[in-house]
Amino acid sequence: MASRRTEKPLPACYAMVHRGLEEIAADEIEQDLGGEVKKSGRGIVAFRVPELDRRLLRLRTVEDVFLLAWGSDELPYTSDALERIEQWTRKVPWPELLRWHHAIRAKPSGKPTYWLVTQMTGEHGYRRVDARKALARGLAGVFPASWRMAEENAAVEVWLTIHGKQAVCGLRLSDRTMRHRRYKQEHLPPSLRPSVAAAMVRLAGTGPGMVVLDSMLGAGTILAEQAELAQQRGLTDLHLWGGDRERAAVQAAAVNLRRFRPEILARWDSRQLPLPGSCVDRVVCNPPYGRQLSPDEDLAELYSAAVREWNRVLKPAGRAVLLVGDPQPLLEAIRPVGWSAQRQFRLRMLGLPAFLSVWRKRDG
Ligand SMILES: C[S@@+](CC[C@H](N)C(=O)[O-])C[C@H]1O[C@@H](n2cnc3c(N)ncnc32)[C@H](O)[C@@H]1O
Repeated sequence: MASRRTEKPLPACYAMVHRGLEEIAADEIEQDLGGEVKKSGRGIVAFRVPELDRRLLRLRTVEDVFLLAWGSDELPYTSDALERIEQWTRKVPWPELLRWHHAIRAKPSGKPTYWLVTQMTGEHGYRRVDARKALARGLAGVFPASWRMAEENAAVEVWLTIHGKQAVCGLRLSDRTMRHRRYKQEHLPPSLRPSVAAAMVRLAGTGPGMVVLDSMLGAGTILAEQAELAQQRGLTDLHLWGGDRERAAVQAAAVNLRRFRPEILARWDSRQLPLPGSCVDRVVCNPPYGRQLSPDEDLAELYSAAVREWNRVLKPAGRAVLLVGDPQPLLEAIRPVGWSAQRQFRLRMLGLPAFLSVWRKRDG
């Protein structure tokens, strides 16, 4: 494990997250890594940690983690930006960043490879390919001639991400295993990204001995994230209950959750759960929305019947964490049961809006 080796300040880091989840990722960085968040917004959280080591790669609510090379809120929209990108890149102490990169990730074996990734959103007076060339000019001489460019599985990736006037550049520490969990063997089309499910279970605030229900569990991502978070926190007595009306979903969840031994894994209708009243501490669920519904199904009817059932099975003061596309039908379904709103987040997932909300049932 790499640790503080000199009195020099450690390089700063940043993480990429789904838009709208920055606050939850910042909380994980502060609580679980003792980090200090410097800035967050537009899907990026910049932070410093007291120790730079592989614990960075265990963050669950983020998609990728980087060592920060440079960042700016003042990148011109015009082609003047290209000169700045080149200059800022040239000033970076790359050998030091690469040493940290190799200390945290395994040092590349065989002939080393690298790749440059450029992402750009917004209107600019230059093209993405020009930004990439400017980045490459700024990096001239950094990688020895023996290093090869390789798009697939490069040992080192330098990323430049530009949103309007904001730009951030860094060395990617994570790889695809950060986003794709080992438990996820079976996939279903509407399955959640694990980092989003991880954010949901953090919001659920689960404690010892609690029963957590996902009554429309799909491939089981939420319960799997719940189980892994509980393991991280040493909670051994959590009860995972899940079900879905589709046989294929229950089968997929059974594979993905095998290691976590859910207590209930059933084929059921969430509008009529075969459960007694007041038996569940947390409902964490991502009901279908938009095109995930069959044409003859009515979203408002489904949500109000499901919310009535969740209200029945939740214990007094129990909590529900729900992720939907359009907030309106959910808010209308919740009004009659009188839950109090705790927190709300507007997300963007794969370019589409989504609404994540946390609710508390009345005390008695
Ligand atoms: C958006 S998906 C859930 C995805 C899940 N969170 C995951 O990560 O895989 C919604 C699920 O709700 C299920 N569903 C829809 N209506 C239902 C109902 N009335 N009762 C139980 N499950 C239902 C669907 O079969 C689907 O698997």
